[in-house]
Amino acid sequence: MANIKFFSGRTTPIEMHRVRIIQKLNLLPIEERYKAIKEAGNNTFLLKNSDVFLDMLTDSGTNAMSNDQQAAMQQADDSYAGSATFYRLEKALQHVFGMEYFLPAHQGRACEHILAKFFIRKKGQIIPMNYHFTTAKAHITECGGQILEIPVKDAFDTTSTCPFKGNLDIDALKATIAKYGKDGIAFVRMEAGTNLIGGQPFSLQNLREVSAVCRANGILLVQDVSLLSDNLYFCKQREEICKNMSIHEIALAFAEASDLLYFSGRKLGCARGGGICTNSKKHYLDLRVFIPLFEGFLTYGGMSVREMEAMAVGLMETLDEDVISQGPQFIEYMTEELVKLKIPVITPPGGLGCHLNARDFLSHLKPDEYPAGSLASAMYLISGIRGMERGTLSEQRNEDGSEPIAQMELLRLALPRRVFTMSQIVYAVDRINWLYQNRHLVGGLKWIEEPPILRFFFGTLEPNSDWQQKLVAKFKEDLGDSL
Ligand code: F0G
Repeated sequence: MANIKFFSGRTTPIEMHRVRIIQKLNLLPIEERYKAIKEAGNNTFLLKNSDVFLDMLTDSGTNAMSNDQQAAMQQADDSYAGSATFYRLEKALQHVFGMEYFLPAHQGRACEHILAKFFIRKKGQIIPMNYHFTTAKAHITECGGQILEIPVKDAFDTTSTCPFKGNLDIDALKATIAKYGKDGIAFVRMEAGTNLIGGQPFSLQNLREVSAVCRANGILLVQDVSLLSDNLYFCKQREEICKNMSIHEIALAFAEASDLLYFSGRKLGCARGGGICTNSKKHYLDLRVFIPLFEGFLTYGGMSVREMEAMAVGLMETLDEDVISQGPQFIEYMTEELVKLKIPVITPPGGLGCHLNARDFLSHLKPDEYPAGSLASAMYLISGIRGMERGTLSEQRNEDGSEPIAQMELLRLALPRRVFTMSQIVYAVDRINWLYQNRHLVGGLKWIEEPPILRFFFGTLEPNSDWQQKLVAKFKEDLGDSL
């Protein structure tokens, strides 16, 4: 970020942008929030956004665009084939990643679908990775593959000081290759800004080591760069070899280490869409056939051309440290305020959002009472803030029907880039603190309806006691007629 020092010595992050378009917010009274969360089956995905005050569900498609992105949308070329918009987006990607070929897709999971479909050749093939993402895992298992998570051991230490908890364990990777052989492995997947373990980055050094092992063994390295901007920022801040590199040089080094990159353009580039990049003509030709089949013609891939124009500009803006520092710095501020209050939160702060450690926050709940889901429901109830459960509910049931207890039980409070102001963060910290002081009142959840795939998106649950009424009563006792 720009070098701005406060005379007072305080370390508040400062926005390097100003607000020029706003969306009015409403905060419903707690009685109405109680009704809304009940109707939503205690699933924050099922809340209507008009019932939400601060929408911290996700950063997916919710980052604020820049004026230049908005302006670029006006020049969108609406042709079905050969759109000039496509060539502008392709050029931006070629510049950012130094990769020649680009296949457009409607969003990140569409890329996961195509990659899994093509590269998983035999049932049971292994896909080693630093950590899974929900949709990546669903597509891999759907195509007969099996994920194998081999992050460094600090990955699951909720209060570690390790700056790169998204790193892959190189010895475990070598052992996996020795065990399954080249043919037993479809590809290795590295996820930048590892989503489900608190937005934790990997280092350039680690990526290069993974790449060297893959290349020595003739195994493909696929990188999910959806959360790249945060990861680039952390490399620049935390990694010695990146200190003298520009953000662009780090991005190019990430690409150079990989055979294929894919991304959700709902995150990277602050628009809506996605795509796959590679320098290999063979991979490009192999995967190309799937684009018109599943996505749309090769020059739009299911995306709106307006979004593609915004993405092209957004990608270039990702190379500006002032732009990409806003998210991680607000997250760091929020996390550190919570640490001061001794509230269990994932440290070091990662990207994407601030992650509450629900297992410790609600330590009186059993794992199958879904602590992170309960915390998400309670958080909305007492504050109008909508977060996302990232724990056991976000997992798929085991094949034998048993409940897979997640490695981590997190409530993610996403801070979409450039969306929230500092006073809104202060409000969130205040309400989290109130909830922590009253955490003994929060009970568990049980299923009403559990869908078989990606159940967290639209499954419904109910409280396992009258704990929500008690929480409402205590809120009114402490905060009177405050919304
Ligand atoms: N990979 C990562 C690391 C993601 O975080 C996401 C989406 C995807 C792939 C899939 O991309 O949504 O465009 O299909 N993450 C969103 C989230 C949904 O809220 O974290 P998509």
